[in-house]
Amino acid sequence: MAIDAAVGTSATPSPKPPMIEAHGLVKRYGTHVAVDHLDLVVHDGEIFGILGPNGAGKTTTLEMLEGLRPPDEGTIRVAGFDPARSPNEVKRVVGVQLQSTSLFDYLTISELVALFAALYNADGSPERVTRLIDQVGLGEKRDARIDQLSGGQRQRVAIALALVNDPKVVFLDEPTTGLDPAARRTLWSTVQGIRDAGTTVVLTTHYMEEADVLCDRVAVMDRGKIVACDTPARLVDALAADATVRARVTGDLPMDDLRALPGALRVECISPGDRCEEITITTDDAQGTLVGLLALADRARVPLAGLTTRQATLEDVFLSMTGRAWEDEPTEAAPEQPTGRRGRRRGGKVG
Ligand SMILES: Nc1ncnc2c1ncn2[C@@H]1O[C@H](COP(=O)(O)OP(=O)(O)O)[C@@H](O)[C@H]1O
Ligand SMILES: [Mg+2]
Repeated sequence: MAIDAAVGTSATPSPKPPMIEAHGLVKRYGTHVAVDHLDLVVHDGEIFGILGPNGAGKTTTLEMLEGLRPPDEGTIRVAGFDPARSPNEVKRVVGVQLQSTSLFDYLTISELVALFAALYNADGSPERVTRLIDQVGLGEKRDARIDQLSGGQRQRVAIALALVNDPKVVFLDEPTTGLDPAARRTLWSTVQGIRDAGTTVVLTTHYMEEADVLCDRVAVMDRGKIVACDTPARLVDALAADATVRARVTGDLPMDDLRALPGALRVECISPGDRCEEITITTDDAQGTLVGLLALADRARVPLAGLTTRQATLEDVFLSMTGRAWEDEPTEAAPEQPTGRRGRRRGGKVG
């Protein structure tokens, strides 16, 4: 089912041929299968996100699509070209974001963009360089040196460089990892601007919120496989449960009564001692469950505290497709300040 969705029976059908089509991709590192019979279709003009925890196989997938890493099995078409047979044609139509650590620290943004334009034999006129820098929102910084930029600004320079050859599709590997929430949002609007200007975007992320807010379609990836692929809204809608109701309780509420609440699919009880102290109810009818719970607590004269309802998210999609909770441990995002020597940091999920 997930595979069918991945190969394009789902979501926005495009009248144009797909920008990317991959079938049966396999990549092994020794005996380890990093990418395991993966199918995907990326439509022309969309932001396609590959969402997965560390080690899921996102970078390996991206590198195969970019033509940088040959697959062990499977077929790939990028804008109609096979990266194995027509590497030069593929290089001409793709843009690849370089990691900011590989930028030249002592050049200005303008100098660096002009240098890359020359390397790619692309138009490096001052007007074009200005246009590219404006496109990633760095117009005011065009004469700043790379080592004077914040992490988010450096990422936007990397995206400008990926656009230098006017690609049909641009690949961004975890473009916002390590950025603070404000810089992340700025980068999202840059990426949306690129999509709106007609360039297809394929990005990887391990931020649920990024996949949800930024991507037109999301492939949820785990252990080398795509386990679900659709628009974020449809992925969440397809879940049996659409909300979770939580409350702390200070008295006894019979489990049978809780399980019988309208909409309740699953009831969990956290009880450090003998008594149930916190209940979590997964429901497909949040309103019915809430009304029933309040009435039940009232009848039993049990006060409820900290009553919350949380709508299902992509995190629940991951849980339902893999049987495992999303395991990325939250870490503080790097502060958004200029630095010449920032290492890549692993960010945490955005709640
Ligand atoms: N060059 C390599 N040699 C051996 N194993 C690798 C190599 N690159 C990645 N892997 C392994 O393949 C799996 C997928 O890695 P990767 O594609 O980088 O995942 P992600 O980008 O989702 O974190 C991981 O288990 C990783 O350790
Ligand atoms: Mg990666």
